[in-house]
Amino acid sequence: MAKHIGNNCHKSYIRGKNRRGNWLAVILLRVSRRDFGLCLTTLLVFCLGSVLWQLNGGPPQLLLHVRYYFGQSTFLDDHGPLVPRVLPFPSKVVYNRVGKCGSRTIVLLLRILAERNQFTLISSDIHNKTRLSKHEQMDLMINISTVPQPFLYTRHVHFLNFTRFRIDEPVYINIVRDPINRFLSNYFFRRFGDWRGEENHVVRTPGMKDDERYLDINTCILESYPECSNPRLFYIIPYFCGQHPQCREPSLWALQKAKENVLEHYLLVGVLEELEDVLLLLERLLPHFFSDVLNIYKSPEYRKLGNMTGTVHKQTPSLKSLQVLYQRMKYEYDFYNFIKAQFHLTKWKFGLRTWPRSPRHHTSLQHREQQEEQSETVLEKWAEHPR
Ligand SMILES: *[C@@H]1O[C@H](CO)[C@@H](O)[C@H](O)[C@H]1NC(C)=O
Ligand SMILES: *[C@@H]1O[C@H](CO)[C@@H](O)[C@H](O)[C@H]1NC(C)=O
Ligand SMILES: *[C@@H]1O[C@H](CO)[C@@H](O)[C@H](O)[C@H]1NC(C)=O
Ligand SMILES: *[C@@H]1O[C@H](CO)[C@@H](O)[C@H](O)[C@H]1NC(C)=O
Repeated sequence: MAKHIGNNCHKSYIRGKNRRGNWLAVILLRVSRRDFGLCLTTLLVFCLGSVLWQLNGGPPQLLLHVRYYFGQSTFLDDHGPLVPRVLPFPSKVVYNRVGKCGSRTIVLLLRILAERNQFTLISSDIHNKTRLSKHEQMDLMINISTVPQPFLYTRHVHFLNFTRFRIDEPVYINIVRDPINRFLSNYFFRRFGDWRGEENHVVRTPGMKDDERYLDINTCILESYPECSNPRLFYIIPYFCGQHPQCREPSLWALQKAKENVLEHYLLVGVLEELEDVLLLLERLLPHFFSDVLNIYKSPEYRKLGNMTGTVHKQTPSLKSLQVLYQRMKYEYDFYNFIKAQFHLTKWKFGLRTWPRSPRHHTSLQHREQQEEQSETVLEKWAEHPR
């Protein structure tokens, strides 16, 4: 309406001047009504843009999004070297989840987060193939890198070296857990499944003979069954060391390589024992993916869902067995302690305290999870003072 009146005024103004034969009118006449409107609109957009810019202390989010959708094409880009498309935050995240380290809990959370925070979640359901041939590695990395960004890709897979195949590297995250607890959790999970119901284990390991299913864990450890010996006990380190065959052999080399990769390629490696702090840090470090994760984790709705992921814990091994396990898992403990120290350092940088023994939030844990947690507390105490 205002524009309409403005145009009329403008028109009569020109007409009046024209009658007097003013030179100014000749120039003004050349400016059509449409040009004038365009001019005003441009001015308005420019003003709004600059106000937004100043309010946000930088380019407004809207402009960044517009830039992204137009492939970041700006005048400079069009006339300069081609710049790869980059979102203004880490937009490619790989979580090469370690088995039985709370990964099912995290994947449940990720499903909720992906919808809420609008990112692509690819959660591979291949659980038993962590090592790949060179060809498979390349296929997988190319697949991963073509997922629409921002994305979070997760799979049980040993560290993938993207730079080796000249593919843009993603940001890595992961979570580990006390090695003996992880081993026990896996031992019983393979045999008896989790709290989804007793019939679940039949699906997981249908071919397992009763001899094996009901094998006493002390027998397994003390009589050195393959399942309770190396290299099978060398489990966490290969996830961080990589696809090299040497990464699967218990050795100082693999341990060092794993540590190096953590420092160079991982944004965060948390410990399951301090899960709430892990989530808090993820929320700070990757807000585009994890914002609100702690609220979701603590919500009653999630608690109901998360109830299904606790593994049945049948039996705690004898002290003698634990000592043997601990000896066999020297490298794993070295690595775990390294991760824990790094994690505490990160917490400290973000102003979070680490208690000597973090208080357990029993109110927020289900009955059966509590049972597992309690038997773990005994083990943790032992693991800290093994003698
Ligand atoms: C992995 O599991 C699938 C079925 O879940 C099975 O067909 C396949 O043989 C397994 N692969 C390995 C390497 O164990
Ligand atoms: C890559 O994606 C294609 C098509 O989605 C699929 O057929 C193939 O199995 C994938 N490869 C790997 C290694 O995941
Ligand atoms: C990745 O591969 C390249 C080339 O083979 C190698 O130089 C580099 O050290 C590897 N990085 C990791 C983390 O293994
Ligand atoms: C968790 O699961 C157990 C066993 O299925 C059930 O008894 C319990 O009520 C559940 N708790 C919640 C909070 O859903």
